[in-house]
Amino acid sequence: MFVSCIAPRIVGVISFSIILTYETYKSVVVRSWPLGIVYRLMQLIIISYFVGYVFLYERAYQVADTATESSVITKVKGFGRLNNAVMDVADYIYPPQGEGVFSIITKIIKTDNQFQGRCSEVTHLEQFTHVFSQCIITGACNTSAGYCEIEGWCPAEDDKVDIKPMPEFVNFTIYIKNTIRFPRFNVSRENFPSTKSIKNCTYDKNTDPFCPIFRVGYILDETQQNVTLLGGEIGINIEWRCNLDHNVNSCVPTYSFSKLDAPFQNASLSKGYNFRFAKYYKTEDGTDYRCLHKAFAVRFDVMVTGIARKFSLIPTVINVIAAVTSVGMGTVLCDLILLHCSKGAQYYKEKKFEEVSEEQIHESLTLKPGSQLSIRRGNSSCNDSGAVSLSTNC
Ligand SMILES: *[C@@H]1O[C@H](CO)[C@@H](O)[C@H](O)[C@H]1NC(C)=O
Repeated sequence: MFVSCIAPRIVGVISFSIILTYETYKSVVVRSWPLGIVYRLMQLIIISYFVGYVFLYERAYQVADTATESSVITKVKGFGRLNNAVMDVADYIYPPQGEGVFSIITKIIKTDNQFQGRCSEVTHLEQFTHVFSQCIITGACNTSAGYCEIEGWCPAEDDKVDIKPMPEFVNFTIYIKNTIRFPRFNVSRENFPSTKSIKNCTYDKNTDPFCPIFRVGYILDETQQNVTLLGGEIGINIEWRCNLDHNVNSCVPTYSFSKLDAPFQNASLSKGYNFRFAKYYKTEDGTDYRCLHKAFAVRFDVMVTGIARKFSLIPTVINVIAAVTSVGMGTVLCDLILLHCSKGAQYYKEKKFEEVSEEQIHESLTLKPGSQLSIRRGNSSCNDSGAVSLSTNC
């Protein structure tokens, strides 16, 4: 009727009449309990998916912030004994600034008083073509002894000596000070409450899970790292999962430990972790000499990950709308069954789709001017809601 008021009649132009149609929906109530069960079951599945998974499990009513700002400061404490000398923090921590990535040296092979010059190599002749060789070969070789001459810092380092790592290493403690900020919610947290005394605590995942002081031996046990194995890389993971709809004090970290170099475990080359550094001195006549250290170390890497969630109106509204719309999906399946798979499919189709053309309206208007539009077909039984009621029994 609306169209007939504002637009001229387009009748006879077939191509237009196909495009220019308007579909409106009328309700057909099908009294069939199998179809009713399917329909309600579909609705139940969709509702429970949205309530259970989308809202309760995935928390779609919240927004998340993973772009965290975090800082880590570490401090290691403990004394060890190596090569008959007592080692303190300044001797075994590298680098000394207390960063999130640091190495604890467990064993050092020292080569004292190296001067520039020529001397005999330490490694045996046949191994000497090795790409990892440290020196320049002069070419002069003592074939009877099986050694060649090298040019560089002499005497050459002999790293085949057997030195035991510091046994006290396992009793060292690592103190980790970690702060994290979630900029989206402007919430900052630290990894231990400033009110709590942490002087005498040691981390234990069961008895003291919030203490920021870790015994190295405990970490090695947790990663199943063999203490006698030299070198290695250990990750200390600090994970923040915060639901800021709850009290902010329940936003606390959890710690876990992992062995980062596990893939190299069975590699024959580059096993463990070591590096070299030298200390340089001058003799009285001005000649440089140095003391070379080959350090075997365990490298620690403190990694911080965080996610904070908080209620937000926009995702809530969007997801509620998606849920409500999806409940209507039940009708799609039921329509498929009703119109294609049921016994009276043809009958239902006739009831469901009805065409009204403007000629019919005009006919009915000219026949009974002033009367309401009446549909000529399918006016079998109308209840007061205006819906046509069908029964599968008939
Ligand atoms: C580590 O500390 C414990 C307790 O203080 C001590 O019994 C143990 O001997 C220490 N281990 C080493 C290797 O020093």
